[in-house]
Amino acid sequence: MQTLNVDLGTRSYPIFIGSGLLGRPELVQPYAPGKQVMIVSNETVAPLYLERATQAFAGKECRHVILPDGEKYKTLDTLNLIFDALLTHNFSRNCTLVALGGGVVGDITGYAAASYQRGVAFIQIPTTLLSQVDSSVGGKTGVNHALGKNMIGAFHQPTCVIADTGSLNTLDDRQLRAGVAEVIKYGLISDPEFFAWLEQHLDEVLARDPAALAYAIARSCQDKADVVGADEREGGLRAILNLGHTFGHAIETATHYETWLHGEAVATGMLMAADLSQRLGWLSTDALQRAQQLIARAGLPLRPPTEMTRVQFLQLMARDKKVLDGAIRLVLLKGLGQAIVTADYAASQLQATLDAYCA
Ligand code: NAD
Ligand code: GLY
Repeated sequence: MQTLNVDLGTRSYPIFIGSGLLGRPELVQPYAPGKQVMIVSNETVAPLYLERATQAFAGKECRHVILPDGEKYKTLDTLNLIFDALLTHNFSRNCTLVALGGGVVGDITGYAAASYQRGVAFIQIPTTLLSQVDSSVGGKTGVNHALGKNMIGAFHQPTCVIADTGSLNTLDDRQLRAGVAEVIKYGLISDPEFFAWLEQHLDEVLARDPAALAYAIARSCQDKADVVGADEREGGLRAILNLGHTFGHAIETATHYETWLHGEAVATGMLMAADLSQRLGWLSTDALQRAQQLIARAGLPLRPPTEMTRVQFLQLMARDKKVLDGAIRLVLLKGLGQAIVTADYAASQLQATLDAYCA
């Protein structure tokens, strides 16, 4: 088992990474204050892992709530199911919520924990690659609105993260690849050595070689923890974690959160951001091609849905959370491993990227 730390002063917490961690009381119990525990999972993950996860909370009043599965259920209505369960069972302020599932369960549960009785403890037990390398770490929680992705939420850090790499064995290949998109992101934004490692070892990661997966997860979590430790509430630096997300969230919203996976949309979005960076003269053609090749090898989509237009992209991107005073700030690349957040690009260059990617 590897243990990393997210360094946030009094709100610091460990990330435990390894196989067979689910169900181990000594890992979670120190981070679950109070006697009451509510495990939140979904109808896909619960049959696989709820029983084992529950064993870790032996001795506590451990209840569960099972949500419908899917990004389209990451809504205020679904959030209410958690509040219903907490109130039905008289859960008090020192209870602990546990998110057992992918990023959707993690984001909703975290938001429930941020707002139930003005804030209770929560533990992240991520079970997808994407959630193990990204969404379980850093305390961004929330739900979608029909008009925009992740538009309602709060910062609320977990008390610990348990990434059991064994749980990835039941994940289907498409979901694994979606998680790889966020892994590649770390190489592109801040870690060129890791990018080069991925060029060498991508096939092992895709084949679920345990050592390669564990390395990729730990390195991704360390890269994310470094950024979050420096800028917890996204005053500046943290926005680089959103490489590709302004384009990607537009794709997710346009497709009603139903057909594209988050990681797939981010992959295409990263290519669009890299394309714009190259047009601006910031990213070399060679670096752009390396990004394109790695994302293609990962089996991720290289273009947005054919029905999306340039106008639709611009309308949806204008609602991004990074928009300031009407300017669409984008995460762009000054080189491989050098992301910046900027609105300092010519509108015509953004149009050129959109023209190149929209039918
Ligand atoms: P997801 O939560 O929808 O999980 C993907 C699918 O895999 C679901 O059908 C789920 O039930 C299933 N699943 C989960 N674990 C499984 C397992 N071990 N075996 C078999 N099936 C399993 O999607 P995701 O990719 O994990 O997360 C995407 C979400 O995360 C998006 O809503 C995105 O906005 C959010 N996100 C949040 C942050 C953050 O910082 N909070 C960062 C990145 C992404
Ligand atoms: N996934 C973006 C962030 O955590 O800031």
